[in-house]
Amino acid sequence: MDKGKQTGVQEKVSVEFESYSHNEQFARVVTAVFMARLNPTMEELEDVKTAVSEAVTNCVIHGYEDRIGTIRMELTCDQGQLTVEITDWGTGIGNIVQAREPLYTSKPSRERSGMGFTFMETFMDSMEVRSAVGEGTTVTMKKKIGNKILEKKVV
Ligand SMILES: Nc1ncnc2c1ncn2[C@@H]1O[C@H](COP(=O)(O)OP(=O)(O)OP(=O)(O)O)[C@@H](O)[C@H]1O
Ligand SMILES: [Mg+2]
Repeated sequence: MDKGKQTGVQEKVSVEFESYSHNEQFARVVTAVFMARLNPTMEELEDVKTAVSEAVTNCVIHGYEDRIGTIRMELTCDQGQLTVEITDWGTGIGNIVQAREPLYTSKPSRERSGMGFTFMETFMDSMEVRSAVGEGTTVTMKKKIGNKILEKKVV
């Protein structure tokens, strides 16, 4: 059987990398390669890569602060729906509702703008945050990919 023909139907990959800031670029590239099978538009590709950058940067800057830890990124596609799950085992978030508010940042002195979660929510269809102080944080984001042309044809 030609297993290649099933590509994009239901698949999962996961990668783990260390929280060096240059690995934000690594995560973006891995995401773009994985998304290629979903035939994304340039806009969809850029949206997801931006969301991934924000989530990974948060793990680097907030999750692990001044130390190096492990970041896990899991990418799943199922019938054109992309799920990106990014986990760190760092400081965790005490107040998730507050953290998700636009312009809230716990590091104003480091010139953060507090817009990372807002960008993730804007560029993806949904975003969920699970976190526990001292245990870490998981951000799960979903977006339907590559259905724009089909939608236009129906209308
Ligand atoms: N992985 C994480 N671990 C611990 N805390 C986090 C994590 N991600 C986000 N936070 C907390 O949530 C706050 C809001 O995150 P958000 O990405 O919206 O803004 P920011 O990172 O402070 O600024 P910006 O993303 O605009 O540079 C952070 O300031 C931080 O306190
Ligand atoms: Mg941020």
